[in-house]
Amino acid sequence: MKNKIQLIEDKLKKSGIKYNLIPLPESLPLDIPSHVMFYKITFSQATATILYKTDKGIVAIQRRADTKFNLEKLKQAIGVKQLEFASESDLRELGTKNGLVPLFGLQVKYFIDKKVLEQGKIYGSSGDGLFGLAIQAKDLPKVNNGQIIDVTERPILGKKRVYSGVRATGRLHLGNYLGAVKGMLALQDDYDCTFSVVDLHAMTTPYDPKTLKDSIRSVILDFLSAGLDPEKCRLEIQSQVPQHTELSFLLATLYPLAPLEDLPTFKDKKAQYPKNVNTALLYYPILMAADVLLYKGELVPVGIDQEPHMEVMRECARKFNQVYGDTFPEPYRFKTMGEYVPSLTGAGKMSKTVEGSFINLNDDFETIKRKLAKVPTDAGTTGGDVPKIGGVATLFVLLALFNRDDMHKKYKQDYMDGKIRYGELKAFLSERIYDELKPIQEKRKYFEEHPKIVDEILKMGNEKCLKIAEETMKEVKEKMGLSI
Ligand code: TYM
Repeated sequence: MKNKIQLIEDKLKKSGIKYNLIPLPESLPLDIPSHVMFYKITFSQATATILYKTDKGIVAIQRRADTKFNLEKLKQAIGVKQLEFASESDLRELGTKNGLVPLFGLQVKYFIDKKVLEQGKIYGSSGDGLFGLAIQAKDLPKVNNGQIIDVTERPILGKKRVYSGVRATGRLHLGNYLGAVKGMLALQDDYDCTFSVVDLHAMTTPYDPKTLKDSIRSVILDFLSAGLDPEKCRLEIQSQVPQHTELSFLLATLYPLAPLEDLPTFKDKKAQYPKNVNTALLYYPILMAADVLLYKGELVPVGIDQEPHMEVMRECARKFNQVYGDTFPEPYRFKTMGEYVPSLTGAGKMSKTVEGSFINLNDDFETIKRKLAKVPTDAGTTGGDVPKIGGVATLFVLLALFNRDDMHKKYKQDYMDGKIRYGELKAFLSERIYDELKPIQEKRKYFEEHPKIVDEILKMGNEKCLKIAEETMKEVKEKMGLSI
């Protein structure tokens, strides 16, 4: 019995079409943004295949991931009266599931929106989750016999609003980079993005007023060096847009006190800084909600540790909408493969405040090697499954996150066979990490040497942000009964 990939390759070979099968990491979520990020492509190159149930049976409709169907046009074009998403059991019957619907090969009629064909190379699902499939757009109708239709509107993703922020507490580490910044980078091409240095949040735990300015600047430099592009996104410094605090106070009038005291993030900080349990610390999630809602953000690229704050944010949006009328979308977290980067100590997550837990974006090769050398391991001779916690688990998570080929699998096999050599693995991993960080460090030098360019970028970003913030506040104040 042939597996799905063999069947796909047979079909592609028979029709003489050029293709690439791209091995996917096991941990890659089944959604389009994660794949776009992994392939390093834009949303316009990703093809979404959606199965609909109609009065004439199930059909597959293909569109570019940066466009949206006009449902009335779609019904007309395919000649049906009723149209709804196929259910999970419909998909199961066809031998597929959400996130895995293949570019061709299902026993249904395929329709292709013509904007898909405007692209050169397109990327889609091969149907098995182990490989992605890339072909020339013009070849798509040849393999799936798809009928070309003209039924989408553009752009939707270009209008979806994204907001994220990093506290001004010094240099970014790999957790910030992989859990948040990589998500920002993936979204800036196709979405309406605002990214912020949240300096007010940095003041909720002990900080040094003498160095705060430098910390703020440093995060901006790391943003720019990592590839955030002021032509594509707005960059702001939170405290320079005073509407953040204004909106946070108004949202606080809606939000009860007790759930804030119960938040795990608040409890952790309370335990960490028992002598500094200030009111602003308790208020942190409300200010964070205001950050995102001020821009009517819908997607928030942050690590998994921020999920409790995301819930507060949604609750604020819901409450406001209930009381004062529909105003804010309910924002959701944009997940990346690096949503939880574990600590180098083998316990907990990589964190700025835990010494020995992190690799910074500016660490040189020797520093990275030295830090990895300290990750606790075992004798390497026991074999079995790769552990889920501890230093060895951390090394394997990092291997997967910096994976470019099958080396991750090779080391996994070595571990299972009880013949892993940690010295070799750590040296290899150090190189992989440094390979990714080196260009970022070089770019940072450029921005350090050109402070005027950075000033100009910040001025431009703040101006644009202030305009949006003023509009939201006008609407909010009007609805809440404040005179304006
Ligand atoms: P901060 O500065 O503590 O963290 C910045 C981002 O880095 C992510 N992160 C991690 N991701 C994966 N693994 C890790 N070990 C790891 N450590 C940190 C965090 O999840 C975060 O995305 N509360 C935010 C700051 C903020 C904010 C906002 C974010 C304030 N307002 C509005 C988004 C939208 C924070 O944790 O910052």
